[in-house]
Amino acid sequence: MRNPKSPRDPAWLARASEDTDALLQDHAHCERKAAATAMALVARHPDQPALVQAMVELAREELAHFEEVHRQILARGGVLGPDPGDPYAQALVGQVRGAPRERLVDRLLVSALIEARSCERLRLLGTGHPDEVLREMWMRFARSEARHGEVFLTLARELGASRDAVDRRMAELQAFEVRLVDESPVRCAIH
Ligand SMILES: [Fe+2]
Ligand SMILES: [Fe+2]
Repeated sequence: MRNPKSPRDPAWLARASEDTDALLQDHAHCERKAAATAMALVARHPDQPALVQAMVELAREELAHFEEVHRQILARGGVLGPDPGDPYAQALVGQVRGAPRERLVDRLLVSALIEARSCERLRLLGTGHPDEVLREMWMRFARSEARHGEVFLTLARELGASRDAVDRRMAELQAFEVRLVDESPVRCAIH
């Protein structure tokens, strides 16, 4: 699952590379929240075995990512600060509809989109960031996030009313996501 390359990518990479410490702070919290979101889905849908299994596996990977980014922060003489917040993810979550099944499908699709955008951004860092050690880490993470995007999309198609309905909803959310990225300021953050 890929998001279209944005013409703003070069500007974003330049901005994100300006302050590596700030970028790592944001990235650590992204990974922490990804693990927490996966476990929140388990808490809300304990009776969906495929979802529980997939989310446990995913949460484990996100937690390992968090641990690795946290270690990089410490290695650079820093300490993890408060969550700087992610207006991009918040705006996407704001699109989730209220009825139970729609809510689950939308939450899964929003996660798929966030994973896909994260994958694109991590790949850019993996090829274009000046720090060689971090480049290797980001490229490795980009491959995980690509897989995670597929996991969320597959679950949405399995748990939604029909594959057509899920794909139609995905097209709507994808259009919103592209507009959101185009309209958002370029930040020294993953999103
Ligand atoms: Fe991750
Ligand atoms: Fe992920």
